[in-house]
Amino acid sequence: MTTADSTPAAAQTGPLSSAADDDWWRTAVIYQIYPRSFADGDGDGTGDLPGITGRLDHLADLGVDALWLSPFYPSPQRDGGYDVADYRAVDPRYGTLADFDQLLARAHGLGIRVIVDLVPNHCSSEHAAFRAALAAAPGSDERALFHFRDGRGPDGSLPPNDWTSMFEGAAWTRVTEADGRPGQWYLHLFDPSQPDWNWDNPAVRADFGRTLRFWLDRGVDGFRVDVCDALVKAPGLPDWPRPTHGVIEPVDGVMPPMWDQEGIHEIFRGWRRLLDSYDGRRILCAEAWLPPDRAARIIRADEMHQAFNFRFLETPWQAGPLRKVITESLAANDAVGAPTTWVLSNHDVMRHASRFGYDGQVELEHGVGADDPQPDRPLGLRRARAATALMLALPGSAYLYQGEELGLPEATSLPDAARQDPVWERSGHRIRGRDGCRVPLPWTEEGPALGFGTGTGSDTWLPQPSDYGSYAVAAQRGRPGSTLELYRTLLDLRRRYRLGEGTLTWVASSDDVPRPGGDDVLHLANGPVEVVANLGGHPVPLPPAARVLAASEPVTTEVPPDATVWFTTGEADTTGEANTA
Ligand code: GLC
Repeated sequence: MTTADSTPAAAQTGPLSSAADDDWWRTAVIYQIYPRSFADGDGDGTGDLPGITGRLDHLADLGVDALWLSPFYPSPQRDGGYDVADYRAVDPRYGTLADFDQLLARAHGLGIRVIVDLVPNHCSSEHAAFRAALAAAPGSDERALFHFRDGRGPDGSLPPNDWTSMFEGAAWTRVTEADGRPGQWYLHLFDPSQPDWNWDNPAVRADFGRTLRFWLDRGVDGFRVDVCDALVKAPGLPDWPRPTHGVIEPVDGVMPPMWDQEGIHEIFRGWRRLLDSYDGRRILCAEAWLPPDRAARIIRADEMHQAFNFRFLETPWQAGPLRKVITESLAANDAVGAPTTWVLSNHDVMRHASRFGYDGQVELEHGVGADDPQPDRPLGLRRARAATALMLALPGSAYLYQGEELGLPEATSLPDAARQDPVWERSGHRIRGRDGCRVPLPWTEEGPALGFGTGTGSDTWLPQPSDYGSYAVAAQRGRPGSTLELYRTLLDLRRRYRLGEGTLTWVASSDDVPRPGGDDVLHLANGPVEVVANLGGHPVPLPPAARVLAASEPVTTEVPPDATVWFTTGEADTTGEANTA
């Protein structure tokens, strides 16, 4: 029995076909690019659009269907670009609109669709509309674009309500009025540099319609919609003397007043109509940290197309909880006719190659410092590979985050002085934040910035750990058993066996496969492909007839601990030509 060899995936991509693929998103594997850290075309230490265009072959070679670009719009970068100062332009640090058009054309030529980030809950305090609101008087039309309120208390010195910011501290900041006196307060669910738009105001809706059209007219294939569940706030902005962070769930049947209010659906329906008026192939993907049944309401047939499955991402490497979240996710999304998505890493959470190097639940967004307990790196990587192999076998659509295909670990010893995540300062240096998953990628084992930059500069906006070179693309490409080759193999097989379109069946543990520690094993079938993920401490025998297609670790007749194996048992396999070495 052998593991699968790599088969070039690039041969299977090609220029996008014009029709007949309206449902591409139902099964797509979508690769997230964080532009600041993917590739640096001008050597200034910060990634940019020409850098990305120059590296798109990597995505074609990997075999993904689409890419999602985190924000590249003009921004003071107080929150990594999620503080947008102009929604319809490119930050000069990242290039120009012409650079964007080139990126799009090159991606489309390679058969890769392009999704951009829409950040509708808030803008940057440098946005022209907010600057105008600050300059204008209380009660003005300019202020009505945002949530300005008088403060509480006799002199208005207390915030208008008790809401807290996602980045710690109050969700309100007081402004100084034109006469120099302390004045009104404005709402920001995130950093003070990110004022929340007032979505009750038709002018806000109209302006976002223009933004959507601007990018759709340029040819983008869709939008990932940032914190979409926060757009509408409960009337009167009532107090909510409970946590607003973490798991957002109804309390006694009532949602927190800043999350998942009924009014959001009408907005999404309007956007859907707009997208559908193009060609029926543009999509909306919801970022909403909601339980599966609440997230599913956002992706009903006339709203968005898909939503990130953060419950899956939050689940530790334990068989029971994973089985439960997979089953519940599929049920919730099937009920509304939407595909289920799967995701393990993104720019907001500890990379899964490090997360799984701790036992149990970890704080996803807290970050790790040099003096904190460090993850068990080999164990983390081993489990990450197994988790990815489990994820890519599941029906639906999957999201990958740049660098995970290299098994890249979180940077867990960044100098504190280098940290950029606003939560580090706002929490009084208690929460280190998300910089550790945002470090510039290693492309080559050596050289300035490990190939991240094409210039001579080796100083990157966040420093690269000294061992990142060993994870470089060049170090892994073509090396049997490398994480990069594992991803290429899995993506190739996923496409070939049409696993995205498939149906998941759990294989009962009482069948012909005896399993020591059976509760720690996930055994599923998707079409002719069977998958055994062993999350326990003992090897698990494979069925005698198993023909291994891919494995996250070398296997013989058994699946070792913390490993996942894809196999067929012969009869039903009509696709598996030449997969094995
Ligand atoms: C989303 C983004 C995150 C950002 C936040 C505020 O959660 O993914 O990076 O900080 O929104 O825009």
